[in-house]
Amino acid sequence: MGRRFFVGGNFKMNGTQTFLKNLIDNLNAGQLDDNVEVVIAPPALYLDQCRKQVRKEIGVAAQNAFNATSGAYTGEISPEQLKDLSIEWVILGHSERREIFKESDDFVASKVAFALKSGLKVIACIGEKLDEREAGKTFEVVTRQLQSIAKVVNDWTNVVIAYEPVWAIGTGKVATPLQAQEVHEFIRKWLKENTSEATAENTRIIYGGSVNASNAAELAKQTDVDGFLVGGASLKPEFVTIVNARI
Ligand code: G3H
Repeated sequence: MGRRFFVGGNFKMNGTQTFLKNLIDNLNAGQLDDNVEVVIAPPALYLDQCRKQVRKEIGVAAQNAFNATSGAYTGEISPEQLKDLSIEWVILGHSERREIFKESDDFVASKVAFALKSGLKVIACIGEKLDEREAGKTFEVVTRQLQSIAKVVNDWTNVVIAYEPVWAIGTGKVATPLQAQEVHEFIRKWLKENTSEATAENTRIIYGGSVNASNAAELAKQTDVDGFLVGGASLKPEFVTIVNARI
C-alpha cells in the first residue's frame, strides 16, 4: 500500500471564532480529494470549536502539547486533555517552538514519545536554518533532529515527518521541488538505515515552507514528497487547491 498523501494546515496564532467558522465552512463545502488525509491545526483555545465544526473525516491537531498527563505546568496542555476533546494529532518541534521558545532536540523528542504513548498521532517538524543550509549543514541538522527522536521512538506508525526549511517558512521563498526532494530522499534513506525498511517505506515525509496554490502541484510530483504542512495559505480558500494538488 502506498503512502496516503497528507496535507496539514497550521493556523499558528491566527483566527477568531468567527474567522475560523468561515474558514471551516469553506473547507466543509469544498470538494476534497478523497485520497488525501487532511488535518487542520487551530490555536489551542479554538480546538474544541473546530473539532465540532469541521467534518469528521478531516483531522484536527494541536500545535503543541507537554510531556506530562496533568499537574503544575502553568500554560501547558497535555495529550490526555487533547484526547478528551477528540483531538487526534499534535504538531511537535515546529521551528517557531524551537527558535522562539527555545525547545531543544531532546525536549521535542521527549514530547513526541509522550504524545505517541498517550495515543496521539504526531507531526514532527525538522529543518535547517538559512545559515546552516549556506554552510552545507542541511543533512547534518536533520540527522541530529531525527536521531534525537529515534532515540526514544521505536514505532513510527503514527508519526508524520514535516521537513520545513526555516528559511522557507513565511518568507515566500519556497524550496524548489528538487531541493525538497533531495532532503526528503535523504530522510527516507536515513530512516531505512536507522529504523527499518518498512518504516522508511511507510512514513509520510511532508514539506512545509511557503507552499501555496501555485507551487503545490510541482512539489507534489516529487517521489518522496508525501504532502504538505501549510501555514499562511491554510488561512485562505486556496488551501482547498493545495489539498487537491495531485488532481
Ligand atoms: O507549519 C507550517 C510552516 O511553518 C509553513 O508556514 O506556509 O506560512 O510558510 P508557511
